[in-house]
Amino acid sequence: MENEILSNIINNLEEKLIEVRHNFHKNPELSNEEFETTKTLRKLLNEAHIRILDLPLATGLVAEITGNKEGPIIAIRGDIDALPIIEDSNLDYKSQVLGKMHACGHDFHTTVILGAAYILKQQEATLSGTVRFIFQPAEETGKGAENVLATGALTDVSAIFGLHSAPDLEVGSFGTKVGPLTAAVDRFEIEIVGVGTHASSPEKGIDPIIVAAHIITALQTIVSRNVSAFDQALISVAHLQSGNTWNVIPTTAYLEGTVRTVNAKMREFVPKRMRQIVKGMADSFGATAELKWYCGPPATNNTPKWTSVALDVAKEQGYVIKELPDTLIGEDFAFYQEQISGAFVNIGTGVSYSLHHPKFKVDDAAILPGAKYFSQLAKRALNILKEE
Ligand code: NI
Repeated sequence: MENEILSNIINNLEEKLIEVRHNFHKNPELSNEEFETTKTLRKLLNEAHIRILDLPLATGLVAEITGNKEGPIIAIRGDIDALPIIEDSNLDYKSQVLGKMHACGHDFHTTVILGAAYILKQQEATLSGTVRFIFQPAEETGKGAENVLATGALTDVSAIFGLHSAPDLEVGSFGTKVGPLTAAVDRFEIEIVGVGTHASSPEKGIDPIIVAAHIITALQTIVSRNVSAFDQALISVAHLQSGNTWNVIPTTAYLEGTVRTVNAKMREFVPKRMRQIVKGMADSFGATAELKWYCGPPATNNTPKWTSVALDVAKEQGYVIKELPDTLIGEDFAFYQEQISGAFVNIGTGVSYSLHHPKFKVDDAAILPGAKYFSQLAKRALNILKEE
């Protein structure tokens, strides 16, 4: 056999994938620093004779398998980065790097996509078309997907799928839905400049803390007074800083926070209204204030067609379909969905502490079914596209 290593892997697939995941879990790397993770993936893919595309990515990679039969190109994506969190678990494969942890299950996502690649490689002869495997860096910064897109590696891709571990779902449970599964995540900063003075004579200055307080309160009227009760938007001021002692009125105040929306209309409206409030409020006190806006990923957007395919394959694979609660977390998979239709799905990894929690964990039993699911979903998508 020319690909004896692959046969061995397939014969002990679950064991192999668990070992791979534990290894990633022990060696977490932060966004854009996933050098060892990438090296490991290269080695694993190379030994299974899976082709890696030559792309200008510092970390992460895209691999592909082209079937013996002609057909379309689809992509499946797993993200590979970890978080700056101190793991608080007693797992025997606990993070060996203090202050870094796979607390969002990206080690699980990576392993599931790798497992799907192994399975599809073995079925190469019967595959109609090409499957690209995106091992994406820097999901946590919201920038990795754009870096992958910028390489041009996905310009000819007709459908794309991705997954997230779901710590609120049992192993064997699955959820997805049409439309936004995650929210648009934008960040803002507000810099207020007043006039500093002695705290005993405020009339000689312009107190930026008072301005900040009014701005914070007024911002909270946007959702309650300017957004219809049938629309969704969220504004959180999460960081407030001004002054450094008890008897000096400072010159400046700083606010920082996030806006979460699920449709383009709200995403455009909220910052517009925020600008009016920030400027108007500062003006009324004689201060100046500037709103700085930083766009993060848009909302994910699962198309009806691919959502129903994703659900059908899940049912066939024996998953129990669960209705998902609404959430306003972000996911940069949304950038792919701006250009390529597809679906993002949640796979139950056993009930655990939430994503990004130091005690978050993934049940190994979710790995093999996840890999099988994605190999099956990839084949189904290729066949559907081929028939179109
Ligand atoms: Ni994540």
